[in-house]
Amino acid sequence: MNLVLFTTRLGVVYKKSSLLHLTTYLNVKITMSRLHYDTIIIGAGAAGLICAIEAGKRNRAVLLLDKADKIAKKILISGGGRCNFTNLSIEPEAYLSQNPHFCKSALARYTQWDFMALLEKQGLSWTEKTLGQLFCDQKSKAVVEALQLECNQAKVDIKTNCCLEKIQQPTPSNPLFTIRSTLGIFQSNTVVIATGGASIPRMGSTDFGLHIAKQFGLKNIPFRPALVPLTFTQKELNQFFKPLAGTAVDVTIHCRGTYFKEAILFTHRGLSGPATLQISSYWQHGDAIEIDLFPNSNVKYWLEQQQNQHPKAELKNRLSQHLPKKLAHKLCETVLNNKRLHHYSPSEKEQLLQQLSHWQLFPNGTEGMRTAEVCTGGVDTDELSSKTFESKRIKGLYFIGETVDVTGHLGGYNFQWAWSSGWCAGQFV
Ligand code: FDA
Repeated sequence: MNLVLFTTRLGVVYKKSSLLHLTTYLNVKITMSRLHYDTIIIGAGAAGLICAIEAGKRNRAVLLLDKADKIAKKILISGGGRCNFTNLSIEPEAYLSQNPHFCKSALARYTQWDFMALLEKQGLSWTEKTLGQLFCDQKSKAVVEALQLECNQAKVDIKTNCCLEKIQQPTPSNPLFTIRSTLGIFQSNTVVIATGGASIPRMGSTDFGLHIAKQFGLKNIPFRPALVPLTFTQKELNQFFKPLAGTAVDVTIHCRGTYFKEAILFTHRGLSGPATLQISSYWQHGDAIEIDLFPNSNVKYWLEQQQNQHPKAELKNRLSQHLPKKLAHKLCETVLNNKRLHHYSPSEKEQLLQQLSHWQLFPNGTEGMRTAEVCTGGVDTDELSSKTFESKRIKGLYFIGETVDVTGHLGGYNFQWAWSSGWCAGQFV
């Protein structure tokens, strides 16, 4: 006889051999055990997975739902397939939020070292690239597999291809959250919204988290694309950017009192590269961005030296020794007054110095959600406890990860926010 044992979370064991006469009873029991959970987490991305693992480790009955056909798609594509999973120097200053203090507690309670310990436990290793950015040596897929294994060990029930239709708030007659989905109706004591931001809509990203916040009357700040390339008018693209496409240069880039010292990259669509992506999170329509083309040296000293040593040389030829030749020539054609170096009057020299260290560009927009790596905005942090991530107004409702109004700089900061916020909520749900 074919003996198969079924165990429910309550530890009740059923024999398939007795299935015929027990069918009705068995079905009812199994269905019941799968309907009710301690917590339901919506969104099996970085934040949802960590939250599920932690809650599961506390012996909570956890259901992790995702509408996608597989979990953690953004982890899989992150860091060019190698997942820049954190940064050695995680600090609150690397996060944008209407309340810059909100992220401090979570980042201090679950740190970059804690996530490294999790990966190490699973036999994974990493390499620091630039600026403290840590990438997984075994690639993004291994990070997802490690998290999946942790979920399995914590007995987390994961359901993919599960689209939500409705979340109903507890009522005096029914003290549970009720989730209607394409896979059925589930109930739980707590619900965690971990559905991320709206960037890269072709991956199915939406502002679902904000809709839920609105449904429950919570304040939110609309999502805006961040860590995104900046765009320019067609005329500027044709005259300047397209001929330079593929050229990269190290600069310091400034906007709204913030600056980043990294590379910019000229493209057919405008300006990209890490420095541009970083500043895009701060840039607002109408703002200029200011670029220092001499981030590591004193431009005044450089110009005087060039004038002394090569007085008859043209600016474009000397500038080509410092910048990529294409860029130096293009700048001299369009922005700078190109002359032999000994021909500059004192006021022309002043203007030149200004242009080289404070070159102003006026983007006309960004590439938008289509290519943005993350979003600024999200559920207003005033609505949430920074300790538990529970809504202050709706008991049992939690928001974590990118859905919350906390957005990190480029370089592993966003995953760390997902891990830290998810871990914290996982201690309380
Ligand atoms: P995340 O977006 O990861 O997960 C949300 C989950 O919810 C998804 O699985 C989605 O399918 C699901 N979902 C959405 N709506 C739903 C609904 N209605 N019902 C059910 N499920 C729903 N960051 C970093 O630190 N280092 C890096 O290297 C990169 N690289 C990178 C590359 C690219 C191309 C992108 C687009 C982004 C990055 N990021 C990054 C950013 C990082 O991916 C992002 O900050 C985190 O994934 C956010 O984690 P969350 O868990 O909050 O959302």
